[in-house]
Order: sequence, then structure tokens, then C-alpha cells
Amino acid sequence: MKALVLAGGRGTRLRPITHTRAKQLVPVANKPVLNYGLEAIAAAGIREVGIVVSDPRELLQPDHRTGELVTTLVNSQAEIRAAVGDGSQFGLHVTYIEQEAPLGLAHAVKISEAFMAGDSFVMYLGDNLIKDGIVPFVREFEREKPEAQILLAKVARPWEFGVAELQGERVVRLEEKPKQPKSDLALVGVYLFTKSIFDAVRAIKPSARGELEITDAIQHLISTGRNVRSHVIHGWWKDTGRVEDLLEANRIVLTDMETKIEGDVDAATVIEGPVRIGKGSKVERSRLRGPLIIGAGARITDAYVGPFSAIADGVQIDRCEIEHSIVLDRSELRSITGRVESSLIGRDVVVTTSNARPSAHRLMLGDSSRVELA
Ligand code: G1P
Repeated sequence: MKALVLAGGRGTRLRPITHTRAKQLVPVANKPVLNYGLEAIAAAGIREVGIVVSDPRELLQPDHRTGELVTTLVNSQAEIRAAVGDGSQFGLHVTYIEQEAPLGLAHAVKISEAFMAGDSFVMYLGDNLIKDGIVPFVREFEREKPEAQILLAKVARPWEFGVAELQGERVVRLEEKPKQPKSDLALVGVYLFTKSIFDAVRAIKPSARGELEITDAIQHLISTGRNVRSHVIHGWWKDTGRVEDLLEANRIVLTDMETKIEGDVDAATVIEGPVRIGKGSKVERSRLRGPLIIGAGARITDAYVGPFSAIADGVQIDRCEIEHSIVLDRSELRSITGRVESSLIGRDVVVTTSNARPSAHRLMLGDSSRVELA
């Protein structure tokens, strides 16, 4: 049994964060989403993992200091290779498989045929997070030996996913992002395949969005009478493609966290609930209300950091209130009036209040940024 992890794609729903970073590396509780998947694969006893990565792409964007428009090469592939390396940190042996363009999940399967060399495999979408891991599903697949096995979960917005229509336990039809969903059972981004999937991905044609859809490939298996098992999961699962989902994932993961304080906290600071603070961080005259996590080398002064916040390494928060938010590396929040909540703030961002006149909101935001001012 091998694994195929998909870490390409454009991450359009998480722009502007994903203009400069692979969506699979956006952190949940200060750990890249991708790591949770790799850990789940390792826990299932799988060692050989192929990670599908896309080519670098060019991006025209303002330089963050001068505001001048410059072309930068966004190399999320290099970032993923740097973060995961040979996989040994996860107990895995990783091979990188290059996809020349995001041509769909079934295309990613197609280009992985040589790597799989006839073995069965679990395909894991790198932006998916299943809290309880995948061990029972892998064991079920090994025991029951179907030609493919899909996981389904009830969702509130089925039209945003691949949707399954069941008759009893049997999957009769799968449809990718249907306008009128036949059920509220979405395809979870974890699939188990035997080598018969390669015939299916060769048989299908690109969808309306121009991609080879894995949903269509599995539908092809069903239509040709192959045994496709489904398993409805009741535990917590998220596709972290949207900010709201990422914040919810953060909330769920932080809920199970225990206190561990490695940084310096002064006597004037009040800590309530589970709080993690990394090495070299300094907290002064603040209130920290967990569950929350603060990375290494951060500085929190005269601030309130509330529940479900993940503050990355090197972040500075001074005279601000923030909760239910994710702040990425080295960003600075200073003297903000009003509480910041339900926010995703990228790397090296500065948010501050200025005394300059006229009193006004002065913004420099990347393409596809979203700001809600109170
Ligand atoms: C993909 C699949 C979809 C599945 C979803 C799960 O969608 O095409 O069938 O339900 O992953 O995360 P995408 O995230 O590519 O829009």
C-alpha cells in the first residue's frame, strides 16, 4: 500500500494568502495542514508516499515595502519540498511527482501510475483534515478488498463538493459540484484505490472546468460494474479551502490542546485555559484566554489574545485584542481599536492605528484581499 498526496492546485479561495504560499502549508494550530495528512498516512503504516506538486508560476504583485509592482516567481513546489523534504521527519519515504499544470485530481492520478507500480494506494488531498486519521478506513479497504473505497460526510453546502447518491449502502451515482445535489453526502478528500483507477482516468474526458475529475473516474468504475465501497464518516472532517473552514479546523485542533509554556510570561499577565507558548516568546501585561497557541519568538504586550487563536513565530501584538484568528509569521498588530476576530492574517503583515491627519483608513492590500472594517 502506498499513498498519493496532492499538494498542487491554485488555492483560489484562500487568496491572497495563496498568492505566495501553497494552500497545503497554511497552518492550523501553527502546523501546516499538510503535516496532519502526512502524519495520518504514517499512522496507517504506509511508508512510500508520492507527493504531486505543481510547477512554479509567475505573479505580478506590489513589493511589500515600496508598493512597486514586481513579478515574483511563486514557487509553492519549492516550499513544499523544503517543508517536507524526504519525508523522514514523518517516518515516510517521499517521492515528488511533478504536474505541469493543475489539470485535475484524476490527472494527478494518471501521472502517478509509474510510481504506484501496480500497488493499491490511498489518495489524500493535502488541504483536507480528518481529525481521527485514516487508520480504520485503510484497514477496512485491506479487509474488504473493493476496487475503490470512498469516504462520505454530511455537509451543509453539498454543491461545493463531489456528491454521492446512495441506494442503501450502494453508491449509484457521483456528481462533481452539482447545481442540484441529490444528497448532502460529500466526497471527503481521502480515497482508496486499486490499480483499476488508472483505466478509469484514461477513459474520462475533462469537465466543464477543464479538469480531469476524480469524481468522474470513480463514476466510471461504478458504471462499468466495479465494486466501489463507501463509508460515511461521522467524525470531524474539513476541506480547508476557505477561510471559515480553516478557522473552524483551527478551533477543533486547539480544543484538544494542553498547556505548555516555554516562553517568558511576566507576573502581570493572566493566563486562563489551555495555552501554549513557544521558546523565546515574551508576554507582558496581557490576558491570554485559551485554548490558544503562540509560536516561538513572539512578543505580546498589553494585549488580549482570546480563545481559538493561533499566533505564529515572530508575531508582535501590542495594545490589541484578538481572538478566533490565525496570524502568520512575523506579522505585527499594534494599537488597533476594536477587537480583531475571525481573521486570517498572512506573513509580514502590519496592521496599526495611525495618528496622521486626516484621520482615515490607509490600506495596502494584495489582490483578492478581504477587509471588513467596523
Ligand atoms: C475536490 C473534489 C471533490 C471533493 C473535495 C473534497 O474538490 O473534486 O469531489 O468533495 O475535493 O475536499 P476541490 O477542492 O478540488 O474543489
